[in-house]
Amino acid sequence: MGHQWHLSISDDLVKVDAIIKDALRSDRKELQEIYDYVTSSGGKRIRPAMCILAHRACGGSCGDDVLHTAAAFEIIHDATLIHDDINDKSEIRRGRKTIHEKYTVTKAVIMGDLMFAIGFKLMGPADRKIIDMVASTSTTMAESEFIQKEFEHKPIVTEKDYMSIIRGKTAMPILACARTGAFMAGADDDVINEISGFALDVGLAFQIVDDILDITGDRLSMGKTAGMDIAEGKPTLPVIYAISDTVLGPRIKEIFKEKEPSHEHLKEALELIRRTDAVERCRSKANDIVENAIPHLSFLKDSEYKDSLISLARYIVNRDR
Ligand code: IPE
Ligand code: IPE
Ligand code: MG
Ligand code: MG
Repeated sequence: MGHQWHLSISDDLVKVDAIIKDALRSDRKELQEIYDYVTSSGGKRIRPAMCILAHRACGGSCGDDVLHTAAAFEIIHDATLIHDDINDKSEIRRGRKTIHEKYTVTKAVIMGDLMFAIGFKLMGPADRKIIDMVASTSTTMAESEFIQKEFEHKPIVTEKDYMSIIRGKTAMPILACARTGAFMAGADDDVINEISGFALDVGLAFQIVDDILDITGDRLSMGKTAGMDIAEGKPTLPVIYAISDTVLGPRIKEIFKEKEPSHEHLKEALELIRRTDAVERCRSKANDIVENAIPHLSFLKDSEYKDSLISLARYIVNRDR
């Protein structure tokens, strides 16, 4: 249930994985070891799936060029996660040690840079329009990370600020995947724009749910450590809503402002947030965003790929990892 979204493209996704493995090769033993570590860790593959589903839903037949581009999106995503984990001081990702924990920060920085370069190289033969879009999406992503940083431990952050940050750091990259897939299918501009609107909303809901999981999730199902956002003073929506709670909010706010909260304070903040209606409100917001996004797809002819796009969107709201 809810996991059907990848079935219609499972052959494509197997090919994408093979392309990724092929792109990440080196004669240097340790480098190859790290590449293998990254490729065998099994992320959800949402970005290549979004690219391929948008493409096939627009009637495309998913040739090698599309598969390479989808693989490039995943490699670029992996690169951002490697750097993100350094910045967030995350120790666990996909159920294993993060790259900087296992191989040092220096090597993790290099790996991230390297994988950005490899991702863009894989995208090399793609249309100029696609390269431009992916490059500017990467710029927007980095800028949003800067804005997010400015709000760390600052309870003045608003829901509007938050939405604009996650638009840049998470939703635009997911939009880029869908837009590229539809473009490569030769879809009309109207259709490309509708699918992009859908993907943008799915991306927003995706990050809201990621931020919920940081409060409610556990390491076993998520494969990453919960509670990291509070520890880092990240201005997430559950935190913003929880701080506005008239009874419990003031104490949550106090802990959120602490630069290096103790383990006890962290635990306290998490418990207090869970007692507010913040998580519930975030869930309902993510759900509304996705349900309102689905009508964007009415432009598309009915197909199993269109159905998969819809179940992908709903899976994103209901996932636990
Ligand atoms: C994590 O992305 C980073 C965010 C934008 C929240 P995913 O949750 O898609 O990570 P993987 O690829 O499945 O591990
Ligand atoms: C996603 O935010 C960051 C990027 C878009 C690179 P998070 O920092 O919340 O992602 P996770 O929780 O570490 O996967
Ligand atoms: Mg992180
Ligand atoms: Mg997170």
